[in-house]
Amino acid sequence: MPSSTHIGLVWAQSLDGVIGLDGDMPWHVPEDLKHFKEVTMGEVLVMGRKTWSSFPESFRPLPGRTSIVVSKTLTEDPSDDKLDHGDVHVVADLAQGLQLAGELKTGPMIWVIGGGSLYDQTLEVATVVERSLFNIHVDGDTYAPKLDTSWTLTQQDPSAGWHTSKSSVQYRFERWERTLD
Ligand SMILES: NC(=O)c1ccc[n+]([C@@H]2O[C@H](COP(=O)([O-])OP(=O)(O)OC[C@H]3O[C@@H](n4cnc5c(N)ncnc54)[C@H](OP(=O)(O)O)[C@@H]3O)[C@@H](O)[C@H]2O)c1
Repeated sequence: MPSSTHIGLVWAQSLDGVIGLDGDMPWHVPEDLKHFKEVTMGEVLVMGRKTWSSFPESFRPLPGRTSIVVSKTLTEDPSDDKLDHGDVHVVADLAQGLQLAGELKTGPMIWVIGGGSLYDQTLEVATVVERSLFNIHVDGDTYAPKLDTSWTLTQQDPSAGWHTSKSSVQYRFERWERTLD
C-alpha cells in the first residue's frame, strides 16, 4: 500500500466502550448515522462480515461508497445476493482487503467501519479515528479498542459538553489522530 494511504477507523461507542449487542447497535441516534454518512461518502470502506450482515438488506451496499467485506465464509459460499454488486468486493483476509482498498481508493483515506474484530486488527496501522461518543451506559457484547497515549484529540464537536439527539441521547463527535513511525 502506498505510504500516502491513511487508514481511518470510524465508530460510535457508549461511555464504557460498547459498540454492539446481538449483532446490532444498542441505540438509535439518527444524527450519528448522518455523521457516518458524511465521513464515509465517496470513500472505500472495509468491514467484517458481521457488520455487513448487520445492515438492513435495503441499506446494503451503502450507496455512494465502495464496500470491501472481509469474510472466509462468504468467499466460500457467496449466497448473499447483495454481494453481487459492482460496488461490493468480498475478500478472504484482511491483508487482501487493505490491499484492494489501496488500489480502489480515490483520496488519501481508507475507512474501516467495523466491527470490533476489524477495529482490533487495524488500530495499529490507523492514523485517524472518528469516534462518536454517547453519554450513556448500555449492555453490550462488542467493544471499541482503547486509544492509548499515541493518539491526540484534534477535533471535538461540540467543543465542550454534549449535543442532544432527537432520541434524547447525548452525544459528541471526536477526531483522534496520530503519526506512525
Ligand atoms: N458502534 C459502531 O460504530 C459499530 C460499527 C460496526 C459494527 N458494530 C457492531 O459490531 C458488531 C459486529 O462486530 P464483530 O467484531 O462481532 O464482527 P465483525 O468484525 O463485523 O465481523 C467479524 C467477521 O469478519 C470476518 N473476519 C474478521 N477478520 C477476518 C480476517 N482477518 N480474515 C478473514 N475474515 C475475517 C469473519 O467473517 P466469517 O466468519 O464470515 O469468516 C468474522 O466472523 C455488531 O454488533 C455491529 O452492530 C458497531
